[in-house]
Amino acid sequence: MQIDIRSAAARFYDFSPGFPPDVPFYQALIPSPRAAVLELGCGTGRVTLPLAAHCRFIHGIDLSPAMIQLCRDKLAQSHLPAGRVAVTVGDITDFHLGQQFDLIIAPFRVLQNLETDAQVDGLFRCIGMHLAPGGTCVLNVFKPFMGPDELQTRWVSPEERLEWETPFAGGKLACYDRRPRVDEQRGVLYPELVYRRYAGSTLQEEVVLHLVMRCYWPETFASRVAAHGFQIVNRWGGYKGERYGEGSELVLQFQAGG
Ligand SMILES: C[S@@+](CC[C@H](N)C(=O)[O-])C[C@H]1O[C@@H](n2cnc3c(N)ncnc32)[C@H](O)[C@@H]1O
Repeated sequence: MQIDIRSAAARFYDFSPGFPPDVPFYQALIPSPRAAVLELGCGTGRVTLPLAAHCRFIHGIDLSPAMIQLCRDKLAQSHLPAGRVAVTVGDITDFHLGQQFDLIIAPFRVLQNLETDAQVDGLFRCIGMHLAPGGTCVLNVFKPFMGPDELQTRWVSPEERLEWETPFAGGKLACYDRRPRVDEQRGVLYPELVYRRYAGSTLQEEVVLHLVMRCYWPETFASRVAAHGFQIVNRWGGYKGERYGEGSELVLQFQAGG
């Protein structure tokens, strides 16, 4: 059984004020109210739930049982019709649902959590198996603000930085970012998110989430998609019409190759 790296941190996820404004973007990509949608790395359902109102069916997969449990709790509180949403614990690099989808998405940089080529190959293989005829997939990564050979010198930092803080359970929740190491050869960052929960000024709890963020640049991202036999049909630099390569995000929509 896989270890859930998010088991302790999952309950803090939805408190981040830093989510991208991507829900209307993904909603607009749903081809029709009859569409079946697959969300890879659905997490706590931040995108799953709002999209569910606009399609026939949405299936979310996530590796983290803790994130899926939070998603299920939200679904139980929602007024969505029975059968509209399914969420399952699973690995997006190796799954078989026995069903095809009109739209496959992986919002908020899920692809970058895959560390190895074998995992990325597995993801694209699974996407190919689960795309319905005429269906499309949309993947997103952030656009690095430095070149591949600058990750060590410009990204790694000895300092911890405050990312955000917010009122929490009568006290305060603060999230810090640490950048201890990279694998520059493979373009993989290893950031740490440190959540600290306070009552007044007294620290009550500290949870460290060790993440993997593999980097893609505009050309390497597009060529990685094309190398798996897919045809890119749209590209964006963000969720508000930014041109590819000019915004903070890299977003590609692709379909099965001709
Ligand atoms: C940054 S969160 C994004 C969650 C959600 N898509 C959103 O936009 O809020 C990344 C999610 O991807 C999931 N994830 C990472 N690697 C995965 C894998 N191999 N299989 C399934 N889920 C994975 C994590 O558990 C986490 O919930």
